[in-house]
Amino acid sequence: MAGKLKVRVDQDKCQGHARCKSLAPELFDLDEFGNAHEVGDGSVPEGLEDKAYLAQSNCPEIAIEVTEE
Ligand code: F3S
Repeated sequence: MAGKLKVRVDQDKCQGHARCKSLAPELFDLDEFGNAHEVGDGSVPEGLEDKAYLAQSNCPEIAIEVTEE
């Protein structure tokens, strides 16, 4: 079993496409400008790993990092 995952949104790259939030609302939230932030400290709860990678691969700006803790 792999280690726990963390997601992070690069604020310089995010352009507010919001695909992350629609694909994985448990992991991403939008601020008042429409830019995404990871929920909490970005830790991916068990069972949501696929959603983390799905959001990453669907961000047109390649703004989402998924790392293993
Ligand atoms: Fe931003 Fe990509 Fe989400 S541009 S709002 S991180 S889909």
